Amino acid sequence: MMLPDDISECRDYLVNRGFPEETNSVIILGSGLGDFANSIEDTITVPYREIPGFPESSVAGHSGVLVCGSVDGNPVIAFSGRFHHYEGYPFLKTVIPVHLANAFKAKKLIISNAAGAINTNFQVGDLMVIDDIIRLFHSVSPAPSSKFRYNLYRTAGKVRKIAAETGLDVQRGSYLYVKGPNYETKAEIRAFRIIGADVVGMSTAPELIEASRLNIPAAAISLVTNMAAGIENIKLDHADVNEAAESRKDDFARLVKQLIMKF
Ligand code: HPA
Repeated sequence: MMLPDDISECRDYLVNRGFPEETNSVIILGSGLGDFANSIEDTITVPYREIPGFPESSVAGHSGVLVCGSVDGNPVIAFSGRFHHYEGYPFLKTVIPVHLANAFKAKKLIISNAAGAINTNFQVGDLMVIDDIIRLFHSVSPAPSSKFRYNLYRTAGKVRKIAAETGLDVQRGSYLYVKGPNYETKAEIRAFRIIGADVVGMSTAPELIEASRLNIPAAAISLVTNMAAGIENIKLDHADVNEAAESRKDDFARLVKQLIMKF
């Protein structure tokens, strides 16, 4: 699949399935956060495997369906399940949601993920507005990235303001991208803290960079599902993801609804 050429084929297929020609927001629901799809009304749900050129999402906690519908009267398209590089997809495929947002003329992208907290002031269950990313040694963009300047800082301020107006206490900070799928070592987490990372995760950076390149405003939220390796003396487990997500799913849904309306 060569993006963005083939994305018009996906778009035509989805419009044939009843998706409207344009949308207000595209939302990427991170691990365990798929419950937000229940807040969408008048839905049309299409499994990824039925969409021409779409990869399937195979990770536990990700359902692998595209949901279109409306939230408070605003047309939205939600990805319940994302494409991770660690599943073997090239970065070109990890950014399909961003290109689909572009194809449906979305005014904004709302990106969420599960992450491990490196900042010891954070707790499991915290929501964090991502105001910058750290890519370490990975070039996570499918396109030459030297030609544009990446800037998330401006949009992060707006997201924090909307969260505050919603009455939600949120953290803010830097998201460090790792390829995964294995969790980090304790020494890596110590090193990541020194270089300024607040949370660590295995997604989001490619999507954010691509959104920036395509000039689509992006709001990015991490849900802290565990303290990163070595901070607490417990074994990390993917089940933590669903437990933490379950505890904050209502607040997360409130925030995303406000972002759909105001961001
Ligand atoms: N590390 C990397 N990715 C993650 C983590 C973590 O601790 N928790 C959730 N996603």
